[in-house]
Amino acid sequence: MATGECPIKKANVGGGGTRNNDWWPDELKLNILRQHTAATNPYKDFDYAAAFKTLDYNALKKDLTALMTDSQEWWPADFGHYGGLFIRMAWHSAGTYRVSDGRGGGGAGQQRFAPLNSWPDNVSLDKARRLLWPIKQKYGSKISWADLLLLTGNVAIESMGLPTFGFAGGRPDQWEAEESVYWGGETTWLGNEVRYSEGNEGVKGSGVVDGDQHKKDHTDIHSRDLEEPLAAAHMGLIYVNPEGPDGVPDPVASARDIRTTFGRMAMNDEETVALIAGGHAFGKTHGAGPSENVGKEPQAAGLEKQGLGWENKFKSGKGPDTITSGLEVIWTSTPTKWSNKYLEYMYKYDWELTKSPAGANQWTAKGAEAIIPDAFDPNKKHVPTMLTSDLALRYDPAYEKVSRHFLENPDKLADTFTRAWFKLLHRDMGPRSRWLGPEIPSEVLIWEDPVPAASHPLIDDNDVASLKKEILATGVAPNKFISTAWASASTFRGGDKRGGANGARIRLAPQKDWKVNNPKQLSEVLSALEGVQKKFQSGSKKVSLADLIVLAGSAALEKASGVSVPFTPGRTDATQEQTDTESFKHLEPYADGFRNYGKSTSRVRSEQFLVDRAHLLTLTAPELTVLVGGLRALNTNYDGSSNGVLTKRPGQLTNDFFVNLLDSNTAWKTTDNETYEGTDRKTGAKKWTATRADLVFGSHAELRALSEVYGSADGQEKFAKDFVAAWDKVMNLDRFDLASSSPQG
Ligand code: HEM
Repeated sequence: MATGECPIKKANVGGGGTRNNDWWPDELKLNILRQHTAATNPYKDFDYAAAFKTLDYNALKKDLTALMTDSQEWWPADFGHYGGLFIRMAWHSAGTYRVSDGRGGGGAGQQRFAPLNSWPDNVSLDKARRLLWPIKQKYGSKISWADLLLLTGNVAIESMGLPTFGFAGGRPDQWEAEESVYWGGETTWLGNEVRYSEGNEGVKGSGVVDGDQHKKDHTDIHSRDLEEPLAAAHMGLIYVNPEGPDGVPDPVASARDIRTTFGRMAMNDEETVALIAGGHAFGKTHGAGPSENVGKEPQAAGLEKQGLGWENKFKSGKGPDTITSGLEVIWTSTPTKWSNKYLEYMYKYDWELTKSPAGANQWTAKGAEAIIPDAFDPNKKHVPTMLTSDLALRYDPAYEKVSRHFLENPDKLADTFTRAWFKLLHRDMGPRSRWLGPEIPSEVLIWEDPVPAASHPLIDDNDVASLKKEILATGVAPNKFISTAWASASTFRGGDKRGGANGARIRLAPQKDWKVNNPKQLSEVLSALEGVQKKFQSGSKKVSLADLIVLAGSAALEKASGVSVPFTPGRTDATQEQTDTESFKHLEPYADGFRNYGKSTSRVRSEQFLVDRAHLLTLTAPELTVLVGGLRALNTNYDGSSNGVLTKRPGQLTNDFFVNLLDSNTAWKTTDNETYEGTDRKTGAKKWTATRADLVFGSHAELRALSEVYGSADGQEKFAKDFVAAWDKVMNLDRFDLASSSPQG
């Protein structure tokens, strides 16, 4: 103090300093299980669906339509119309969705947050969102950013002359950057050395992958395999490199990357061609000058930039001088009006490789006249241009068949495009009971995973009581009912809200044949329950098998615990025709620690798969802990093995798993780092066997802390209560028809 130095200068606060993640980057991370809680959400007890219902939807659409042509001096509209920019914003919001883990997508407004707000593929979309702010501000909580970003793309298409297939609102916003999505292991933007390296064997649901292992050279662009669950060819891109794979201007090789990445977004060849041809009927690309002129992305830009990034020092830095992708292409002569000209020009001309002013590979129509308008100068015209990825639609033989068909049948392109666009925007919304607004199409689509509406009165409390008795009298071991109910409900995924017990799809292909579902045991349980159903339905009442599967789990659990287990009827049974078998394949777990199924890969450890699945099930760390401990005590491993069944009384809902796991008299050893043997420290007698998904509850400091709660002398009662609550949550995860139990985030 005597020196007059301010003591604050020596302070370091606000999250600085070396953290656990720096010291132990491989530590199992539980942070994804505690995101999007009340602590991050400014709205308390807010019901977005109710707020949306008070929205003047038509007035909002009118305001959006007016905005399209209300060019702002700070970010002028190309051709006097923001339509192209807004379509790209909506497409990039929804287009991060991937089928294998149901994550990504536009369902939560994540484009506002890092990393997406700063991805190299999202350059200039900061401006698009900022242009929307006055409208968001006007309508406030009645329209979420998530809904607004997508609806704006829809309105853009309509305002340029193409009626859309419809629109559904109902996507509540999140308020912090999503941490659960594995975007790849590369540490540089546009890198792809990890996703195409060896050791990327198909791994589903690997949202907690530590991707920095196994760095190797790129594999051949004509044969390389993209790591699951990724759906983009480079870190920071939505799909593929527009210049061609790794910048190589090869349209046929580009088609290969497009097929893989669009396939991972649930799009087939027809839908893919329609989306690209339809999307690029509008707007232009931006590469007026060298990319060195472009400053830092929003996440790294200075405070004075107020959340905007990519400041462009080239001439005016906007309008005709805009640099976004570094490519400078205008596809059609009517970029603000729906037409088939994109495909007409694609086939009319031969294309020669040229460079954009920024030096990027693109293609120019050979010998063509300058028929394309300039975005700002009415006296200037350009010759038609295309991206390498555009020409994939002509030069890949399978895409060519589709695109030629669309060329000759513009109505077919319009129909396929608007349907694929609708699917793109709504794929991750879950069942129709979540959809809101006046523009919901009446046609039900197979990718909605439809379940029929209940056509009969639901069972009442008396029916429930008598059905439980019937179920327990079938002679099937109770733990098998618990396994089946769990298998049925635990396919749910919070990201795209697919799966769950409703529909009883566990009795249909492909789920009935999944190894994790133990098909032999499953068919024993299902035929017993069908017997109960038949007998019950010989009277005037009806019950679905979907309800019976869950009820059987509840009945068996009550018997095993002595605690009453809630049950809410109302599920119905889907048919095989209502079930897209191909698409349901993505719900099959690669590993599932709740049932002690599967094991580590070279990139993902078993316990990471367990946490990943817990995240898909929207569980907290305490819920994960209590469920695994309970399921082990109840003896419900997929194959009936005794791994982790750390109890002398299997089948009862006891806290024995925790008591025995935390017993210091047991020593554990392994020969394969996957299964472990526990012996008595004194006698050396063999006591237990267990897997990584069991022992992590004793070894991981935070999971151990939770295990101690349940393994304490006063833990049993709390354990049983918490288990039943978590069980009930899982059984009802897909019950969006029950307003109170719908996860809103
Ligand atoms: C613009 C690439 C698919 C809609 C662009 C730009 C690139 C690009 C590089 C220029 C960005 C800029 O510099 O401003 C690709 C690639 C695709 C693809 C590689 C897939 C292989 C799609 C799809 C849609 C779409 C599926 C919509 C359904 C648009 C629109 C623009 C655009 C409307 C114009 C943006 C504006 O006018 O500001 N695309 N795109 N694109 N893209 Fe795509």
